[in-house]
Amino acid sequence: MATGLASASLKRLEGKVAIITGGASGIGEATACLFAEQGARVVIADIQDELGENVAKTIGYQRCKYIHCDVCDENQVKSLVDFTVRTFGQLDIMFSNAGIVSNSDQDVLSLDMSQLDRVFAVNVRGMAACVKHAARSMVDNCVKGKIVCTASVAGKTGGKKRTDYFMSKHAVVALVKSASKQLGEFGIRVNCVSPYAIATPLMTKLYNKVAEEVEKIYQPLTSLKDEALKAKDIANAVLFLVSADSTFVTGHDLVVDGGFSI
Ligand SMILES: NC(=O)c1ccc[n+]([C@@H]2O[C@H](COP(=O)([O-])OP(=O)(O)OC[C@H]3O[C@@H](n4cnc5c(N)ncnc54)[C@H](O)[C@@H]3O)[C@@H](O)[C@H]2O)c1
Repeated sequence: MATGLASASLKRLEGKVAIITGGASGIGEATACLFAEQGARVVIADIQDELGENVAKTIGYQRCKYIHCDVCDENQVKSLVDFTVRTFGQLDIMFSNAGIVSNSDQDVLSLDMSQLDRVFAVNVRGMAACVKHAARSMVDNCVKGKIVCTASVAGKTGGKKRTDYFMSKHAVVALVKSASKQLGEFGIRVNCVSPYAIATPLMTKLYNKVAEEVEKIYQPLTSLKDEALKAKDIANAVLFLVSADSTFVTGHDLVVDGGFSI
């Protein structure tokens, strides 16, 4: 029988190959580091080339590659999947995480349709293209893969502003639920993670504040008053969803919000 020490040293993603979109920053970056620590080989896909290359270099080029991929362009997403299979031999995990917010408030009365289109191109169309091409590769190669999308607590409620963002995250949950029903017969599990507010660059740029200031705004609204949610907490939730610890979990929206939406 394995001792506690021995089992603690077992890597949970040994031999697995993962793609992480939006892996150059924030939640994606934290997840890329955790996946690599857990034994996976990782392809980071992003449009911030310098940041993405730096993350790959920090993890080590032997187990991590960066590739420029704008998820709005389906051909680039297909090339990303092909590159991953060519480079590392297979695709076991897709973490479709790239996402954006609009710069303006986007309340219904002042909705800027071109900004809405942009949010949908990345958060909905981009997610769908990633799920589609990852699933095709997994089905074609008989891989019982795992797909996780980043939704949000904004995918559960309405919002006083950011209508387009809330709409887009509801769509992500519907994509995940539908894909999980369709891909179950191939042994592919599809889930999403729904984070509460985290002071990643997405939020600090939006508020034009440093991380601590953003955390001070959101921290009091959860049940866990002394804790601020960190990107690492989401990475841990994603690790659960792609590991053997969640073998019978599919179509699930794992909310990580310190009780905010209760
Ligand atoms: N930070 C939060 O409070 C929060 C809460 C809930 C959900 N989310 C979601 O988490 C995900 C990650 O966001 P984050 O907070 O880590 O932000 P982030 O800005 O730090 O990271 C997002 C990454 O996505 C990349 N990206 C943007 N458009 C892209 C495109 N077209 N193609 C490829 N990559 C693209 C960016 O370059 C960036 O590196 C997003 O889907 C976001 O909606 C964030």
